Amino acid sequence: MSQRLDSRIALVTGASSGIGEATAIALAEAGAKVAIAARRKDRLDELAKKLAKLGADPLVLPADLLDENEAQRIVGDTEAHYGRLDILVNNAGVMYLEPVADADLGRWRRMLELNVLSMIASTQAALRGMRARREGDIVNIASTAGRIANPNAAAYSATKFGVVAFSEALRREVYRDHIRVSVVEPGVVATELRDHIGDAAVKDALNAWADGMRQLQAVDVAEAIRFCVTRPAHVCINEVLMRPTDQDR
Ligand SMILES: NC(=O)c1ccc[n+]([C@@H]2O[C@H](COP(=O)([O-])OP(=O)(O)OC[C@H]3O[C@@H](n4cnc5c(N)ncnc54)[C@H](OP(=O)(O)O)[C@@H]3O)[C@@H](O)[C@H]2O)c1
Repeated sequence: MSQRLDSRIALVTGASSGIGEATAIALAEAGAKVAIAARRKDRLDELAKKLAKLGADPLVLPADLLDENEAQRIVGDTEAHYGRLDILVNNAGVMYLEPVADADLGRWRRMLELNVLSMIASTQAALRGMRARREGDIVNIASTAGRIANPNAAAYSATKFGVVAFSEALRREVYRDHIRVSVVEPGVVATELRDHIGDAAVKDALNAWADGMRQLQAVDVAEAIRFCVTRPAHVCINEVLMRPTDQDR
């Protein structure tokens, strides 16, 4: 049976668009107070207005999470503001797709650092309080690219396989502390994620493939995230693998 999140404190990274924005709203609708982090403060401020109307007492945390100190700082700021953090959604991410032979290693380094190291840093910071209180939810956003590796996605898949592996190892380290770890692995979602692909040919091919299907919407993934954190305390949803009905691989 679904639990309400009244009086629960959530932090959603990458909340300025797409899945993170929809997740902040979904958690607020379930009663949580919600802190939101990303670089685009104007987008966070717009979202905060919606969250305030839902009674979510939003906390806007502008941050460039490429810096692991910032990834830890937003956890500390959330705890300082609300007194604790119950639900951490590590959602911020980028997808830079290109063939290995031509890859811009600086860009790939930034993707590895944001998608993996930043998630690790914010998780590490959240564990201290969660362990002390012997409860908490950590939800990490991976991808079908964390289950199947495709050409042009070698490094993106490396980050998302990494998110899956990290999440399972973490779960086994913290389950005795009653901390739940979930990983959500969506297929194609209609968001801004593909806009940042630098290789035009790869981008056009991926957009053509995605346009040929009824894509997941951000709210579909947000509902899966909300499902994970609204289970009774004895139920841990370890993984949610979800694709558009029309997606093959
Ligand atoms: N869309 C899909 O098909 C799909 C499928 C599977 C998994 N995912 C995963 O879902 C997650 C969310 O992506 P999305 O699809 O919702 O795309 P999106 O709309 O582009 O959202 C990405 C979010 O990450 C934030 N972000 C990017 N760089 C950042 C940085 N340096 N510091 C702080 N925040 C940063 C962005 O905010 P700012 O630019 O304002 O900083 C934005 O809020 C990602 O982890 C992605 O890999 C997406």
